[in-house]
Amino acid sequence: MVKSEDGSCTAYSSEFGEHYHSTKDGALTESLHKHVIPAFSCFEEAESLRILDICFGLGFNTLTTLYHLRHSGMNKRVEIVSPELDEPLVHSLKYFSYPEAFAAFAPVITAVSETGLYEDEHFRIEVLFGDARALLPTLEQPFDIIYQDAFSPEHNPVLWTKEYFAELARLTHAHSVVTTYSTALRTRLALYENGFNVYLNKGEGYRNATVACKGALQRFEKVDMPHKIKCNPDVECLKDND
Ligand SMILES: C[S@@+](CC[C@H](N)C(=O)[O-])C[C@H]1O[C@@H](n2cnc3c(N)ncnc32)[C@H](O)[C@@H]1O
Repeated sequence: MVKSEDGSCTAYSSEFGEHYHSTKDGALTESLHKHVIPAFSCFEEAESLRILDICFGLGFNTLTTLYHLRHSGMNKRVEIVSPELDEPLVHSLKYFSYPEAFAAFAPVITAVSETGLYEDEHFRIEVLFGDARALLPTLEQPFDIIYQDAFSPEHNPVLWTKEYFAELARLTHAHSVVTTYSTALRTRLALYENGFNVYLNKGEGYRNATVACKGALQRFEKVDMPHKIKCNPDVECLKDND
């Protein structure tokens, strides 16, 4: 366990050789500003939302979603589906030192940690234990929001390839929003080549991130992908065969 810059704790994975969150931005800050707030800003009127949280990890994106809903007074029914390879990690989360902001969600943390499932009248959270690459093709219904929060392309390339993003494209509709901390051109290219428009998520107190949507998003600055590709003619996205 490591204390990140905003005071919230994250962890280091010796298997993947990387922290679960940016220690510079902070676990809670990263989750809130790179995923939850930008995604929900596109769905202010929606009464219910389906979210794919890739991958569950320490559960920050899921718990920050509950926190944001509560603190912004939004009354929405939210269903979160989250693949996670590391089942023992999830079972250990009831002992994790979460920020005070998550105190109200202790029953959620306990239920998800013990059973992988939590449900009440507002939320349904289900962790799907296993390999996301095997699990995603078994899912049918589209998601409104996808938090693309795998370890980095350098450390976990199978969750950043063109074929992987094709699977995300299959699981989205015209207005679905994909959020990711990655600003790498090859990540953005994999999104673009699968029919997504790419947008810059920029703000105070966190490093730049990316938002993508097949349709148009007015509130984000569009990345001029044809121009970026022209300036970087050798750029290629990661492929499953690499
Ligand atoms: C950066 S962490 C996710 C952090 C998480 N979103 C959070 O907010 O705490 C990446 C997670 O992906 C999981 N993972 C890596 N490869 C996976 C795969 N192929 N399928 C499912 N989960 C995977 C790791 O076990 C790890 O928990």
